[in-house]
Amino acid sequence: MSFPTTRPRRLRVSETMRKMARETRVAPENLVYPAFVVPGKGVAEPIPSMPGVSRYSADNLAEQARQIYNEGIGAMLVFGVPDKKDERASAAYDDDGIVQRAVRMIKEAEPNIVVVTDVCLCAYTSHGHCGVTDAAGAILNDPSLELLSKMALSHARAGADIVAPSDMMDGRVAAIRKALDEEGFTDRAILSYAAKYASCFYGPFRDAAHSAPSFGDRKTYQMDPANVREAIKEIALDIEEGADMVMVKPALPYLDVISKTREAFNVPIAAYQVSGEYSMIKAAAANGWLDEKRAMTESLTSIRRAGADIILTYFARDFARSL
Ligand code: PBG
Repeated sequence: MSFPTTRPRRLRVSETMRKMARETRVAPENLVYPAFVVPGKGVAEPIPSMPGVSRYSADNLAEQARQIYNEGIGAMLVFGVPDKKDERASAAYDDDGIVQRAVRMIKEAEPNIVVVTDVCLCAYTSHGHCGVTDAAGAILNDPSLELLSKMALSHARAGADIVAPSDMMDGRVAAIRKALDEEGFTDRAILSYAAKYASCFYGPFRDAAHSAPSFGDRKTYQMDPANVREAIKEIALDIEEGADMVMVKPALPYLDVISKTREAFNVPIAAYQVSGEYSMIKAAAANGWLDEKRAMTESLTSIRRAGADIILTYFARDFARSL
């Protein structure tokens, strides 16, 4: 069957027809809003490299959580931006740390929102790497696992529903699962940043979280952007170790990775539309070069079409409000 009998344009004649034939939808409940928490009270500081995103103190973030949930968004991801950093990232696993306090306050203000916490040492180490280092600056895998497990455990004690390790150390999912189970947190899920690439698109985030490494780069632990078979291997390992959901990050430049992951695995797949992806659209829109709402909707739809169930995005609130 071909032209002139077959005419694909018949299904595009009106918006109602297009909506009926549409294959992919984005809903606020598929979205996770990433948020930054800082020490103090009453703080709301806009982040210059991420227009529309602010760092909040825990009290303000708890209030935001209520609004976010009321806008229809199901979950938020909490990042800590601590004022104290040291070699062992001790503020990361302090039961009275900023993330731990923020999680307790969010859960009190809005018990229904799913709280995801980022488990990584980079914002807490004096050198800004995601694991501990030796004197020569090498990032040590196995000694980092103990600290990451302690961090995940203290997030669970505070009430986190999902812990999301983003450090890319080998074996961290198994270590965290074991630590959680040993303390009775068998009901808390792990969303692993399983295929996380050494990407330049994290630039604005590192400003926001003050987490840029003071020496070297992250290429010995984050993945080479050229690799996709390796992503499948990383994801298989994390699922084997007990990850309940897996993430591909960044999202738009890695749609093929999302799509291959969808074909190969049956767990829920998350994709992170990272800070650089967000800020590029914001900057182009501010210059009048792109229609912001359409660029937001098209990019989120494409990420879903590639196979992501869940999208972590700084656009979550803008998108929910745009409906
Ligand atoms: C921490 C972490 C990063 C992001 C999420 N968790 C930064 C990095 O790895 O350098 C990036 C998020 C974004 O760019 O929006 N390891």
